[in-house]
Amino acid sequence: MRCRPLLLVPALLAAAPALWAQVLPTPALLQASLGAPPQPVTVIEPHLSIGGKRVRLSYLGYPIAQVLNAHLGPDWQNKPGKEIEFRALDGYVSRIPVERFAKHRAYLVLARQDGSEFVVDNPGQNEKRVPLGPYYLVWDNIAAPELLADGGSGWPYQVAQIALRNSSAALLPARLAPGFEAQAALAQKFCLNCHQVNGFGGDKMPINLAVRAKQIDGPTWQRWLLNPSAVKPGTAMPPLPDTLPEREAAARQLHDYLRALPVSD
Ligand code: HEC
Repeated sequence: MRCRPLLLVPALLAAAPALWAQVLPTPALLQASLGAPPQPVTVIEPHLSIGGKRVRLSYLGYPIAQVLNAHLGPDWQNKPGKEIEFRALDGYVSRIPVERFAKHRAYLVLARQDGSEFVVDNPGQNEKRVPLGPYYLVWDNIAAPELLADGGSGWPYQVAQIALRNSSAALLPARLAPGFEAQAALAQKFCLNCHQVNGFGGDKMPINLAVRAKQIDGPTWQRWLLNPSAVKPGTAMPPLPDTLPEREAAARQLHDYLRALPVSD
């Protein structure tokens, strides 16, 4: 009898859909699958709201819970300790704890409400008219001003894939001294979207920070994290957000943590 191993593949996919990154459909197919037109949402656009400014923009999109229910199954909400991963076309990766979506309202948007081009300037990264499509994750930070502290972190654009993931053991390996939980969360939120630690993180600039942090002295590290453009004009490395309270201390804590983190392959 002829062996047909390929038949196993759909069975595996059906058994463990949440392990697989789901490629998001086009906006037209998403609208068809959700059975409703996208709705307006107004936010304080963090990429434009720097230096004390508050710039409001209105987008069109869907509550993220609706999209995740349709693409990951409704079970994702009952998975405390897990993270939703948003992977962008340019290699940027946001990992956001499931609990955060219960606490704050997020929307997956696909257009500007006024019909103007779906782009945004990102002065923190010295970039202009950055395309936001196919999808952009935005948060109702008018209802929850505490979200402003994070700047553009947690607002991935050019989102093409979503997945439900376990939090990574790479951030807090057994060989690391205890007590670095808060620092690891800072690194995940602000650095590992683009960079990596020991193979975990984003692909936009996939250097291993557990290696680089050990090669850079404290004052150089502080200057770089707080104002990279002053060190290297035109760089695409964003500063820690100016809305983050105690950002000098946060930069120092990141250095301490990444220097303590053992390097592995
Ligand atoms: C949006 C993507 C992005 C994020 C987020 C980001 N960086 Fe970077 N980073 C870059 C890019 C791009 C470069 C290369 C800069 C250049 O050469 O112009 C870089 C360079 C660096 C370097 C220097 C590497 C070298 O070999 O000289 C260090 C160290 C670094 N980043 C640390 C961090 C830390 C720590 C964080 C979190 C607080 C962070 N980065 C967040 C994009 C990012």
